[in-house]
Order: sequence, then structure tokens, then C-alpha cells
Amino acid sequence: MANDSAVGLHDLSFATTEFVLPHTVLAAEKGVDVGKYHKGIGQWSMSVAAADEDIVTMGAAAAAPIIERHGSDGIRTVIFATESSIDQSKAAGIYVHSLLGLPSATRVVELKQACYGATAALQFAVGLVRRDPAQRVLVIAADVSKYDLDSPGEATQGAAAVAMLVGAGPALVRIEEPSGVYTADVMDFWRPNYRDTALVEGQESIGAYLLAVEGSWKDYTEQGGRALDEFAAFCYHQPFTKMAYKAHRQLLNYCGHAVDEERVGRDLGLTTAYNSVVGNSYTASVYLALAALLDQADDLTGRRIGFLSYGSGSVAEFFAGTVVPGYREHLRTEAHREAIARREPVDYARYRALHEYALPADGGDHRAPAQTTGPYRLAALRGHKRVYETTGGGRGASRPSARTSTAG
Ligand code: CAA
Repeated sequence: MANDSAVGLHDLSFATTEFVLPHTVLAAEKGVDVGKYHKGIGQWSMSVAAADEDIVTMGAAAAAPIIERHGSDGIRTVIFATESSIDQSKAAGIYVHSLLGLPSATRVVELKQACYGATAALQFAVGLVRRDPAQRVLVIAADVSKYDLDSPGEATQGAAAVAMLVGAGPALVRIEEPSGVYTADVMDFWRPNYRDTALVEGQESIGAYLLAVEGSWKDYTEQGGRALDEFAAFCYHQPFTKMAYKAHRQLLNYCGHAVDEERVGRDLGLTTAYNSVVGNSYTASVYLALAALLDQADDLTGRRIGFLSYGSGSVAEFFAGTVVPGYREHLRTEAHREAIARREPVDYARYRALHEYALPADGGDHRAPAQTTGPYRLAALRGHKRVYETTGGGRGASRPSARTSTAG
């Protein structure tokens, strides 16, 4: 039975890109043994955004099925978390609000803290619902992860959006208190405003993540959190899926447990299925791990899940969720698998051209190349304004648009 005073995830849906680059193709191009990608970092392919896709089109595609199922009643807040923002001023969520036809009586805001932003959004949403349990909050986490071509980070790129409806009496997962939180001022990964690609100190970033695992767990236990053995599974931020394994071994060690690889596999094994083929979706990644777990596990009713969210720079949070009875009736497993299966494989040259593609910055009138077959697309830039359109459906659906938006 869902506890009425409980607050948490009522629905969860994700979307990714039009294109995909398999790591076999990347390995052949770079002259790297593909084992480095498959085994070394645990990645098999990366989602590649079309020229007319971005955090808005993915965010709207992730959120639309939630609005279709639940309507917009009670949604008075939309929080959009991202590292790969498209505007220094305007919240990306306003474009999504417009594309989805949400009511004007809504507050929309954008949140940033590298890959941690979605967890801040979720916690703020829980707080808003506790203040007024009649309200629901739409949390959207969307990112296009981009490193320099030929850099070590290139193999860990990816893109996806997760939308989560947060409310009282949740149908999927109750979010528990306390949280363990941790902040340390480190330059492990950052992106100055004048750059499209992130800068990263690769090995330092791994060390910073591991320290943050310890710090947030330490605070979690000091705040009266649960013991490690009470958790059935752990959803970690997965910049590459092997990072979750490194993090979990660190946590077991820190807690004085022997590192038993069978246990590590049991605790994490089902959480990596989507991230290993999507790549790093930054702030969406920990919730893609949750989607993969819920979509694949036999039955998690009443079981506890540990969440470890890490955002470089750095901020981390450990918290727990309890899976609600009946949750399986509300999952979107088929749609999630379709979002991954529908991507069109590209060769290295096409991927590279997409990576190098930059929107014109001259303020002129420019149509965006029509590439995506997803439900929303960036149609044009006009006088420095982005124009989005609804395409009328999924892959193969005919264009052009039913509705266009500059969202102001
Ligand atoms: N077969 C099997 N394994 C192989 C192999 C082969 N042929 N060749 C190499 N490997 C293994 C290596 O032994 C290594 O494993 P361990 O980490 O267990 O030692 C692994 O493959 C990777 O090899 P390298 O360390 O040599 O790889 P690299 O230096 O080229 O790049 C990286 C690795 C630093 C993670 C790089 O991909 C990178 O910079 N990524 C971006 C930064 C990142 O993701 N950091 C994670 C923490 S920060 C964070 O989480 C926030 C965020 O989202 C960015």
C-alpha cells in the first residue's frame, strides 16, 4: 500500500537521440582494442544527437508520455536540470512547457550542478510536494555530453533525457529521508561559458567521485540513514558504467565489507543496461540506472534502493528510495527499449560531422537540417531565437509540424 504521506516518483520516462555510434566503430577508427571500451569502461555505444535535437527536444519527448498519462492537473512547477544548457538566461523548461501545452499557472526554472542537478531538482520537488501534497512537480533531466574529438573522454559521450513526475502517494518509488550530502571545490570536470565541450582531468575526476562517495555516505549515516545491507540495489551516477563498479567497491571497503564481486554484480548488475548503450547522459544518468533496474528486476516491491548522485566540481548526495507495491503496472519498459532500439547507427564520419556541427551565431534566419524522426525538433534559428516544432509522431512520422514554439 502506498503511504499517503509518502512522496516520490509517480512516473518516469526517458528519451534519447536519433543516432547511435557503436564502440566497435569508434575502436576501429581510433586503432584501440575494443576491449578497452567494452570491458575497461563498460560502454557499448553512445547516443548521438541529430542537428535538430537538443536538451529541449529530448526533454519534451521524455515528458510528453507523462502528461499524456496523467494530464497536467496539479503540476505547478517544472524543474529542468542540465549541464548542457542552450541559453544563459532563459530556462530550457519554458520551451518544453510550451511544446507540451502546460498551463500558464506554472513556475519553470532551470538548475545546474554538472551531473548532480537532477537530484537537487528531485529533492526540491519532494520539498514542494511536502508543503502542498495536492501539487505535483515535473522534473526533467536532459543532457548532451560532449568532449573534444580524439580526447580520452570522447568514448564516454552520450545523450538522453529523463522526465519524472514527483507527487504524494507515488506509484513507483517513495523517496526517503535522510539524505547524505557532500561538497568539495575541485576542478575535475568543468565547462567555461565559451566552450561547447567539457574540460576534464580524467583520473582526478575518478578520484574526486570516489571521495564524494565516501563523504556523502558518511553524512548519510551520521544523519541516521540505513545500513548498507538493507539495500537491494544501488543506482550510481554512471559517466561510464564501470565507474559504478569502482564506486560501489569503494563504498563496500569504506564500510568495512569484503569486496565480494558476486555481491557487487548483484547490487549493480541490472542498473547499467541503458547507460552502457546510451553513454553519459550527465544529470539523467542516475535515473536511467533506476529505469534499467525497475524495467529488468523480477520484483522489487518493498525493497530499498540506494542512490548515489555525483556532479563534478563537486556535489554528491546519497539517499534511499523504497519501491511501492504495484509499481510494475506503471513502468514504461517497452517504450524505453524502443527508444534505444530505434536509433539509427552512424559511421564515424557522420558522427564526426554531427560533433563538429555548430548552429549559426549570426542572428540570421536559418532552418535546421531536418534529421530527427522524434516527436519534437529544433526547426530554425530566427534572430537568435530558437524555434521548436512538434513533428506529429515518432520515427517515420511525417513532418512538418503541428505546433511551433519560440516559447516567448
Ligand atoms: N581490455 C580491457 N580493459 C582495458 C583495455 C583492454 N584492451 N585497455 C584498457 N583497459 C582498461 C584500463 O585498465 C582501465 O581500467 P581501470 O580503470 O580499471 O584501470 C580502463 O580500461 C580505462 O583505461 P584508461 O584509464 O587507460 O583510459 P583513458 O585514460 O583513456 O580514459 C577516462 C579513461 C579517464 C575515464 C576517460 O574516459 C575520461 O576522461 N572520461 C571523462 C571523465 C569521466 O567520465 N570521469 C568520471 C568521474 S567524473 C563524473 O562522474 C562526472 C561526469 O559525468 C563527467
